[in-house]
Amino acid sequence: MDIKIYKDKNEVAVQFSAYFVEQAAGRDVFHVALSGGSTPKIVFDVLAENFADQVDWSKVHFYWGDERCVPPSDDESNYKMTVEHLFSKIDIPNENINRILGEKEPNGEAMRYANLLEIDLDRVDGIPQFDLVILGIGDDGHTASIFPHEIKLWNAEDHCVVATHPDSGQKRVSINGKVINTAKEVAFLVTGASKAEKVEAVIEKTEGSDVYPASLVNPKSGRLIWFLDEEAAAKLNQDPS
Ligand code: 6PG
Repeated sequence: MDIKIYKDKNEVAVQFSAYFVEQAAGRDVFHVALSGGSTPKIVFDVLAENFADQVDWSKVHFYWGDERCVPPSDDESNYKMTVEHLFSKIDIPNENINRILGEKEPNGEAMRYANLLEIDLDRVDGIPQFDLVILGIGDDGHTASIFPHEIKLWNAEDHCVVATHPDSGQKRVSINGKVINTAKEVAFLVTGASKAEKVEAVIEKTEGSDVYPASLVNPKSGRLIWFLDEEAAAKLNQDPS
């Protein structure tokens, strides 16, 4: 586990972008699962505005680790957020963007997306393998859209599951923990003081942290990198990078 701590979220965005460029370089194809929410916004802005010309976007194929079951025009849509902060600013072929169809019936879409992953990605022991899965952590310790109250979904048989947000009841389609842990590399992007307690719990495996789905992220490849700002890392005993 590689823990990188930077001054603030802008520096996290710069350093993650440099890492992304490095990961994409020299590959014929680069399959990436994106996270949603608000943290990626500044990361996508920096990647698009300061590093875009260092990436051959024709080789990058974007997927999502999770999506809200809303239309792509909805402000809650992770796809819409990614268009606004990334896709609208880079030259990426439309066929390289594989959104989860949030407007569709959730169970049917989870099956469709699982099949798409099986077709598009290499499989290891039958599990689709991403080159990179990007994750965030919710204030409650969820990751992708596997929430603590539905932690059983982590080991679901299906590659993609239908989850329910514990507060809003919003339906989500999410990849399961087996797909996450089969990835060649997993990068957590976590910033802000509100995440410090969960970051400490998950990284230092404190008492009771096993109730947090984020604590189950443990890629078989062993390649797990944390990109943290000092606020999110405040409870860790680490020197800033
Ligand atoms: C989503 C995300 C989710 C997110 C965390 C953190 O669809 O919301 O994929 O897992 O990464 O909730 O979200 P913030 O970055 O907004 O804190």
